[in-house]
Amino acid sequence: MSRTRIKKIGIITAGGDCPGLNAVIRAVVKSAIREGIEVLGIMDGFLGTVEGSARPLTGQNVSNILVLGGTILGSSNKDNPFGMFQKEVSGKFRVVDKSAHSLRHFKEWGLDALVVLGGDGSMTISSLFAKKGVRIVGVPKTIDNDLVGTEQTFGHDTAVHVAAEAIDRLHTTADSHHRAMVVEVMGRTAGWLALRAGLAGGGDVILIPEIGYDEKKVAEAVRKRHGLGKKSSIIIVAEGAHPRKGKIVVDRVVENSPEKIRLGGVGKQLADNLEKLTGIETRSVVLGHVVRGGTPTSFDRILATRFGVKAMEMVLQGKFGQMAALVKGEMSSVPLSKIGGKVRTVPLNHELVLAAKKIGVSFGV
Ligand code: F6P
Repeated sequence: MSRTRIKKIGIITAGGDCPGLNAVIRAVVKSAIREGIEVLGIMDGFLGTVEGSARPLTGQNVSNILVLGGTILGSSNKDNPFGMFQKEVSGKFRVVDKSAHSLRHFKEWGLDALVVLGGDGSMTISSLFAKKGVRIVGVPKTIDNDLVGTEQTFGHDTAVHVAAEAIDRLHTTADSHHRAMVVEVMGRTAGWLALRAGLAGGGDVILIPEIGYDEKKVAEAVRKRHGLGKKSSIIIVAEGAHPRKGKIVVDRVVENSPEKIRLGGVGKQLADNLEKLTGIETRSVVLGHVVRGGTPTSFDRILATRFGVKAMEMVLQGKFGQMAALVKGEMSSVPLSKIGGKVRTVPLNHELVLAAKKIGVSFGV
């Protein structure tokens, strides 16, 4: 990449998608155009860098995408140029370093800098490219809100909002049938989504990966409510939550992915066991990808716009090898090297955990 004035930048949306990606793309493109900078949209996350797949983004391309879910550029949570999975004739996968392809394409495209919207995996890849001299700025995305260095990622607020709305609906049907409902939401190692959705949706039990639960205690909480004449109980469980002495529930193993394990199923398992323990009919619902789709909330639209504008400012100021971040409510930046491979989990003494406990929410312990 040239060391001259910034004339052209690339933008990538990588990792699992989330609401607000398009809002960031729009903010980056709009502010770049005002500086006379061209923007190239790289397709399908880092896969596009390896395959050389990209298209120019103009003001017209980003018109009316503020409210659009998903990403107009496509994404991938399987493709890491430094370790691509190549299928052999035997059907087995071989890991190949194709980062040289990406570097060649960055040069061919004439990029002076790259903006990467991604989670911790994408920030790790970005940091490796930064070490190879690529001028990179990261933007933190994920519904899980588990990136270190930033108070909040965009996409999380929308996921909380959609999950809470679903829980609201489950309250009424659970009440009608005097049932307990287990609601499973995403969140592999961090329980922010389950915690916030549980609080916003008036959940009675919240189970997060950070706190190993005891099924008997969950059953006790449900029975107690029943004894008090409550018509129903709502239990929110993060996909990565697990019994104190038990294992996480794996839905599938994706062989050609750096992150092979896909979680899912803890809600059904818990519901079946709770029904046996309490004698109360208990059903389970998996919200899964539902909370990753659709239009972003106003909060996420604003946060995504702020992140996009900040990323462009960082490009202009030459603040490369860093990620835009929200620190004490203000736009800031943190070095990429401090982010990858780490997870921002819920501290057990977090104010939200304590508030939930104070209103009688059980964490199954
Ligand atoms: O990182 C976001 C996330 O939504 C996780 O909570 C979840 O485990 C994972 O992505 C699922 O990704 P996929 O799209 O491969 O199912």
